[in-house]
Amino acid sequence: MAIPLMDLRSEYMQLREEILDAMDRALQSMQLFLGPNVQALEERWAQYCGVRHAVGVSDGTQALHLALRAMGVGPGDEVITVAWSFFASIEAIIHAGATPKLVDIEPNHFCMDPEALAAAVGPQTRAIIPVHIYGHPADMDALTEICSHHDIVILEDAAQAHGARYRGRTAGSLGNTAAFSFYMSKNLGGYGEGGMVTTDDDDIAANLRMLRDHGQRKRGCFETVGYNARLDELQATVLCIKLKHLETGNQLRRAHADAYSQLLQHPDLTTPAVAAGCEHAYHLYTVRSPRRDQIAEALRQADIAYATHYANPPHKSPAAAKYGLDQIHLPVTEKLAGEVISLPMYPGLTDAQIEQVAQTVLSALR
Ligand SMILES: Cc1ncc(COP(=O)(O)O)c(C=O)c1O
Repeated sequence: MAIPLMDLRSEYMQLREEILDAMDRALQSMQLFLGPNVQALEERWAQYCGVRHAVGVSDGTQALHLALRAMGVGPGDEVITVAWSFFASIEAIIHAGATPKLVDIEPNHFCMDPEALAAAVGPQTRAIIPVHIYGHPADMDALTEICSHHDIVILEDAAQAHGARYRGRTAGSLGNTAAFSFYMSKNLGGYGEGGMVTTDDDDIAANLRMLRDHGQRKRGCFETVGYNARLDELQATVLCIKLKHLETGNQLRRAHADAYSQLLQHPDLTTPAVAAGCEHAYHLYTVRSPRRDQIAEALRQADIAYATHYANPPHKSPAAAKYGLDQIHLPVTEKLAGEVISLPMYPGLTDAQIEQVAQTVLSALR
C-alpha cells in the first residue's frame, strides 16, 4: 500500500464539518479581509508563541520580506542567512533591496553555524535570518550573543517550526521578529497561502500592519508604498480550527520520530539529532546517508513517498547566480545535498507504516 509523505486529505476529513461550517459563516458575513477571523488567529498565534504581536500576511515569503522592511532593512544593508533552506529565505532579502550573504550550517542540526556567522559579520551586516530547518531550532543563544555585539537584528525563519521550542521558549519568540508560513503542508497549514510575523516590538508590528495593506494605517491614507499582502479570512478560519490540534499533532510527530530513530540503526544512516534543551517540531523527518540514492530507489519501488530537501541548495540555482551566490563554497551544505532524504511524516502515520518505511530503508542498505 502506498505511503504518502504527508496525508493532508485525512486531516481534512477529520475536521471537515467544523471547517465548512466556519467557512460558510465567514462567507455569509462577506467580511473576507482583515476581519474577525484574522484578528482571532493573530491573538491566538501571539499567545501560542509567547509574544505581544502576530501580524497575518499573505504567505511565508512575504512574512520574511515584510519583517525585514518593517525592521528598516533595505538597500545598502547586508543580511546573513543560510543556503540550507527553501529559496524564499534568500529571495526575501533581495526583495527588500538588501544584499544576501550566505554562511554554512553546523552538521548536527543543519542550522546556521554560529562560528561561521561570527566570521562573516561585517560593517554592512544589519540582520541575520537563521532558519529553524525541518522544525529544529537554530542555536539562538549563540547567534544572539554575536548579534548583540554588532547591533544586528534577528529574523527567525520559522516557516517549518510551528511549535518548536528552544530552552523553554517557542519558535517565534526567539528573535526581533519571526516569519511563519501557513502553506498547506506545514505543521499548521491552511488551504491556500498564508503567513504570519511575530514580534514583541510595537513599532515593528505597526509597520507590518501598514506594509501588508498598501502602506495604509488609516483607510485611504497611503503613508508609504506598501504591498497587497494580507492574510484572508477564509484561511484564518481554517487556521483557527487547525491551531487547536497543533500541539497534539506535534506530539505525535515526536513519537513517530522516536520510533523511526529506534528502528533506523545502521552505520550508513544518521537519524536526526536534537540539541539539549530543544523540542523539534518534526515538520520533516530527514535522515542522512552516503547511500541516499539506493534508499530512494528502494522507497520508490515500495511505493513509499520521499523527498530530498535540499538536493539542489538554493545558492546553486540559476536565480542565485545573478547575485554571485553560486560562487560561494559551503562544504557542509554541499555535502548534505547529496545525502539527505525525508521520510513520510504526519500525525496520522501508523506504527505499521513506520515499520514498513524503516524496513524498506534498511533493506536498501543490506
Ligand atoms: C524555510 C522556509 N522559508 C520560507 C518559506 C516560504 O513560505 P511560503 O511558501 O508560505 O511563501 C518556506 C516554504 O516552504 C520555507 O520552508
